[in-house]
Amino acid sequence: MDIKKKINRRISVAPMMDCTDRHDRFFLRLMSKNVMLYTEMVATKSAIHGDRKKILSYNPEEKPLALQVGGSDKIELAEVAKIAEDMGYDEININLGCPSKKVQKNKFGACLMKEPDLVAECINSMVNACKIPVTAKTRIGFDKTEEFEYLNNFINKMSKAGAKTFILHARKAMLTGLSPKQNLNIPRLNYKMVYDIKKENPKLEVIINGGITKISEINNHLEFCDGVMIGRSIYQNPYFLVEIEKKIFGTQQNPTREEVAAKLLEYLEKEVKLGTKVNHIMRHTVGLYHGQVGSKDWKRYLSDNMMARDSDFQKAKHIMTIVQNNEKANQINS
Ligand SMILES: Cc1cc2nc3c(=O)[nH]c(=O)nc-3n(C[C@H](O)[C@H](O)[C@H](O)COP(=O)(O)O)c2cc1C
Repeated sequence: MDIKKKINRRISVAPMMDCTDRHDRFFLRLMSKNVMLYTEMVATKSAIHGDRKKILSYNPEEKPLALQVGGSDKIELAEVAKIAEDMGYDEININLGCPSKKVQKNKFGACLMKEPDLVAECINSMVNACKIPVTAKTRIGFDKTEEFEYLNNFINKMSKAGAKTFILHARKAMLTGLSPKQNLNIPRLNYKMVYDIKKENPKLEVIINGGITKISEINNHLEFCDGVMIGRSIYQNPYFLVEIEKKIFGTQQNPTREEVAAKLLEYLEKEVKLGTKVNHIMRHTVGLYHGQVGSKDWKRYLSDNMMARDSDFQKAKHIMTIVQNNEKANQINS
């Protein structure tokens, strides 16, 4: 059986540095069994020489899971692809979209869009090193370059090198003059460019990303692309995943916020015993009550208590009780 066909990338949660760590992914998985998850970007050198257990380990519940890597050394990238496969990751994804100065200095991320041949070599080397799918996440252009021909040529080179799935963040990257944060908002979104890539390359799997916040938008993009990747709107409102499960995957039985909180509490209990700090888990739950009655109280409570440098499990339990009471209040009020 071809394992490359098994991954469902209809909806995925975007890799986000300082956000989609293993605790966040566990939390997200409690609300959706069907979305594809990605790690934060890990630099090749960290994956190879760093504390692998700390940097790359994950809970099997998080699967299907892709490791996102940043690098431009084909030998290192091949080594990380093999590590990812050996550790049970379902996919290895190369970051070709990050515009930060630090990332550029290390020659990975969006600046690699300038070097399609080098990227193709890197992809080829990764493909030869492992059997899991090698995918790329890139922007649609950089600086003054935002042309279909350029992007199409770039994608074709990567495809010939063996990548068959492309995640396209539908805005170009400005390599100078904008901060990473501005680079997520200022260059305008150009969804048509992504649709055109899919139209031109029907055999490739094309996933669209950037600024997607609603089910109606997801459905619209799915008419033109194979999948939708969502970042900030899920991080800010994680329970959006339950709506996605219901309306996109047709899942009938979905957890309430209260049930999510209760499951997270079990996880928290285990993790705290292993030495994890409570806030390392709870900080990802700030948006659990997004748009609900009492969500402000919840956020305030978390920011007042969770950031304290302690790993007092009882405090966490107390906070969870408040969440659950909030949930009940919401149910009564709605
Ligand atoms: C806090 C933050 C961290 C990010 N870190 C990464 C990263 O590690 N790798 C990556 O490819 N993209 C990263 N991105 C970009 C997202 O994956 C995504 O492409 C971008 O946020 C656009 O999608 P959205 O509008 O749905 O958020 C990050 C974005 C944010 C907001």
